[in-house]
Amino acid sequence: MIRRIQSSDWPSIARIQAESYPHEVLESLESLQSHWHVSEATCLVAEVRGAVVGYILSHPWIRGKVPPLNEIYSNLPANCDSLFIHDLALSPSFRGMRIGDGLVEAVFEAGSALGLTHLSLISVQGSTGFWKRFGFKISFPPSVEYVIAVKRFYPASDFACMECIPDLEKKLTKLAKLTKFPFL
Ligand SMILES: CC(C)(COP(=O)(O)OP(=O)(O)OC[C@H]1O[C@@H](n2cnc3c(N)ncnc32)[C@H](O)[C@@H]1OP(=O)(O)O)[C@@H](O)C(=O)NCCC(=O)NCCS
Repeated sequence: MIRRIQSSDWPSIARIQAESYPHEVLESLESLQSHWHVSEATCLVAEVRGAVVGYILSHPWIRGKVPPLNEIYSNLPANCDSLFIHDLALSPSFRGMRIGDGLVEAVFEAGSALGLTHLSLISVQGSTGFWKRFGFKISFPPSVEYVIAVKRFYPASDFACMECIPDLEKKLTKLAKLTKFPFL
């Protein structure tokens, strides 16, 4: 089951974060929770037999700008026109079951309900291929300063700025299917 985060979920979320990332890049609980405080509708968990096994944190943001890492958000900027996916992680024993797909699709819907049809994220730990399956494409990093900042947090892993417009992707996929007909 995919549902919105509740206060009692945070110990599980903190544990899954610690199971999913190297110690030196872990973000504080306050920082993680602040994403939820500013945007409860777009921060979700996956629950299996009553246990939280994965989470996705996202929030409205300004297209083309990347939010700071490991900071405490007290409010959102004005004129948000995009949904930024801050983090997606599953407990290791629940990976390989496509539970991540369910969380991503639910966040697409939550963003769309807010009128946000553009999404972006920073892929890390070799997850670029995972995101491409949803139509995310690698985009240019917003600035050299940003690249330097991310490299400080992710010294050992690759990372890439990615963006997606789900409705456009759906239309393009439909068009690609249609144009396969020989009589078109
Ligand atoms: C990323 C993550 C959430 C995906 O978990 P998941 O839902 O269990 O994903 P699955 O293993 O079921 O894979 C779903 C599909 O994505 C594909 N996939 C998964 N990781 C991939 C990758 N790195 N590159 C390409 N494809 C990938 C799988 O092959 C599978 O497709 P298929 O069923 O057609 O073969 C999980 O690996 C995780 O928690 N990683 C640690 C945290 C992390 O790095 N998060 C990314 C932050 S940007």
